[in-house]
Amino acid sequence: MKKLKIGIIGTGNISAQHAAAYLGDERCELYALCDIDEELLAAKGKQYGIGRLYTDCNEMLAALPELDAVSVCTWNAAHAPCTIAALDAGKHVFCEKPMAMNTAEAEEMRAHAKRAGKLLGLGFVRRFGRDADLARALVEEGKLGRIYYAKAAYTRRNGSPGGWFEDKARSGGGPLIDLGVHVIDLVRYIAGNPQPVSVYGAAFSLLRGRELTDLPAYLASRPDAPVSDVEDLAVAMIRFADGMVLQAETSYKLYTGEDENSVELFGTEGGVRIAPDLTLHSSAAGKLAEVSFPFPAAFGGEAYRKEIEAFVSAITEGAPLRADADDGVAMMKILDAVYLSARTGHEVKL
Ligand SMILES: NC(=O)c1ccc[n+]([C@@H]2O[C@H](COP(=O)([O-])OP(=O)(O)OC[C@H]3O[C@@H](n4cnc5c(N)ncnc54)[C@H](O)[C@@H]3O)[C@@H](O)[C@H]2O)c1
Repeated sequence: MKKLKIGIIGTGNISAQHAAAYLGDERCELYALCDIDEELLAAKGKQYGIGRLYTDCNEMLAALPELDAVSVCTWNAAHAPCTIAALDAGKHVFCEKPMAMNTAEAEEMRAHAKRAGKLLGLGFVRRFGRDADLARALVEEGKLGRIYYAKAAYTRRNGSPGGWFEDKARSGGGPLIDLGVHVIDLVRYIAGNPQPVSVYGAAFSLLRGRELTDLPAYLASRPDAPVSDVEDLAVAMIRFADGMVLQAETSYKLYTGEDENSVELFGTEGGVRIAPDLTLHSSAAGKLAEVSFPFPAAFGGEAYRKEIEAFVSAITEGAPLRADADDGVAMMKILDAVYLSARTGHEVKL
């Protein structure tokens, strides 16, 4: 079998997960790397034994017509230009979350994928967790009944990755666009991908100057940035076409007891809580009941391998993508609306 030739654009932290997944997939050959940071690029080339190294993705795409697909792992502002360049060059693209800086960019990316007839997969990795599989199965079995309310929280007390993540011109925003996407998309996925119809949001940038010595768990490849102009807390009420209302909260900085990464969905027959283990809340014998699972049911790192495996299967076998450009656009609409509502103080209808 002819192996797919893969390029990675952006060789920072998350690219390691993509590279490991491609290297472990016998259908693929990790073929070329691209990063605007020459030093980092050289180090990664050495690490993976790859000599095809480029500091400009357009040069890489022009030089290597044999490339089949690329992963876009750059900071957010480069997602749209790099994805569009690769699609226009006839490559399939797997783009990290968030899809883009805003809905307009995301819609343009989707249009280019359509025009090129190429796949555009989205890195909503939480869709590939064991918890997501289990929660989806519970929903499909009718264990939740009609889902009408959900909560999603991804809050860090002191967890800004710094660097470009705090520079709005390169990130598009703070914890909402970085962390919120994961848990908001997870709720959407578990609930069967309902479309958002309206959003009320608020955002605060009141702890921007707060410097604590407790180090965050995750740092950008280059943690220093010339500016810090993103929100430190964003909250939202999101209404979906199926009637479900989602309350979401997300922070880089917050005076609270502990970090939280949880998702809950409440239905007429039961509720499911992922925090991070998965529990089904229901009733039996006329009493409230709780079901836990005697195997690991929390999100695990193998999800990154699974999302790339699914992308490759979509290319080689035409398997459907679990997160596609439509999901990316739906998410960008939600995020844009939260920021707009936060600015205006009013609900935004989509
Ligand atoms: N799915 C997840 O769990 C997850 C986790 C972390 C990050 N991410 C996403 O992955 C992306 C990268 O995040 P990271 O943590 O790896 O950041 P990082 O800072 O470690 O790496 C980003 C890299 O992109 C490079 N870059 C920027 N513009 C470029 C361009 N035009 N061409 C080539 N390279 C370019 C930078 O030089 C840098 O090396 C972000 O969109 C982030 O939201 C996803």
